[in-house]
Amino acid sequence: MKTILTGIRVNGELTLGNYLGALLPMTRLANQHSQDSKINIFIPDLHTIISDIDGNLQTNLIKSIKYYLASGLELNDNIHIYRQSFVPAHSELTWLLNCFATMGEVSRMIQYKEKGEGKDSANVGIFDYPVLMAADILLYDANYIPVGEDQFQHLELTRDIAIRINNRFDQEIFTIPAKTTDQAKFMGVDDGIRIRSLTNPEKKMSKSDISEHSKIMLSDDPEAAAKKIMSATTDSIGKIQFDMFNQPGISNLLQIESLITNQPLQIVISRWAGETNYGDLKNQVATSVKTFLTDFQTKVNDITDQKVLEVLEKGEIYANQIANAKLHQVQVALGLRKNA
Ligand code: TYM
Repeated sequence: MKTILTGIRVNGELTLGNYLGALLPMTRLANQHSQDSKINIFIPDLHTIISDIDGNLQTNLIKSIKYYLASGLELNDNIHIYRQSFVPAHSELTWLLNCFATMGEVSRMIQYKEKGEGKDSANVGIFDYPVLMAADILLYDANYIPVGEDQFQHLELTRDIAIRINNRFDQEIFTIPAKTTDQAKFMGVDDGIRIRSLTNPEKKMSKSDISEHSKIMLSDDPEAAAKKIMSATTDSIGKIQFDMFNQPGISNLLQIESLITNQPLQIVISRWAGETNYGDLKNQVATSVKTFLTDFQTKVNDITDQKVLEVLEKGEIYANQIANAKLHQVQVALGLRKNA
């Protein structure tokens, strides 16, 4: 049985980028594969505390599980949902992997370069973040990890560390996750998904962006969200076509329309080929976003906290069993435990 695994941090509210790039693909893959694969969805609460400790973690955490359920995730016995910090093996394995990850490779991670490099006040968690992510994945022998394109470098690092440890001990301790090109194919996209900022489409849509107009939050008023689409930055080329390099704003709108209405990108591109009125495209995408948010928020409000807690507690019993067994296997290989 293959294992498909993913996590989304819960610093504040989630954006439409988190939803379309990670949450929705995971739900679709889970529904498609949960008869013959194990599906692990977890909340990386330990990753969350590297920044913004604002006292809202519990609220955001519960809400993010509601988002999965509202996105159409059909629960069954192969789907496991859990909190990272409720499975202590994640922290323990991180330390062990730290001793096999090099300063050089971890310093090359783009997210670290952007957020921590050269800053004396940056916490060590920002640096070690990808090693904890590797532990999250390797504990469960995960094959596929549906994430947005910005996380692909961390997946490559995970593969490198796993291959290094397997080679060092001449054993298949860890399953090597699929290459990122195969991850993208598995998600049904040519490349990873990167939803762009609405004000600066060169950049990804990010929850930490200070400009409210740059991002659509899943809790946004649907009407206000539609207005953000209407004022999205485009270009002066005057042709509707998919060209991320020269027309990132227009391409972003086509991408959002395709994902949110569940139509292949090629179909959406063909529908708009030859058209020149950017206002028409914006109107269409604004309507799709508004319809989506209205329906989605109603579903979220219908799910109780109690339901979420039941799902988590069940998932954590399972996750601890699997993770502890893998941790023990690594401890034995390293000589920290006798083989018993
Ligand atoms: P995080 O919380 O930064 O982002 C969560 C997911 O959302 C995707 N994403 C986007 N996708 C498309 N367009 C965007 N604009 C956009 N913004 C964010 C991210 O790629 C990600 O998939 N390190 C992970 C969390 C994590 C994890 C893991 C994931 C921790 N351990 C193990 C998978 C497996 C993260 O920071 O995601």
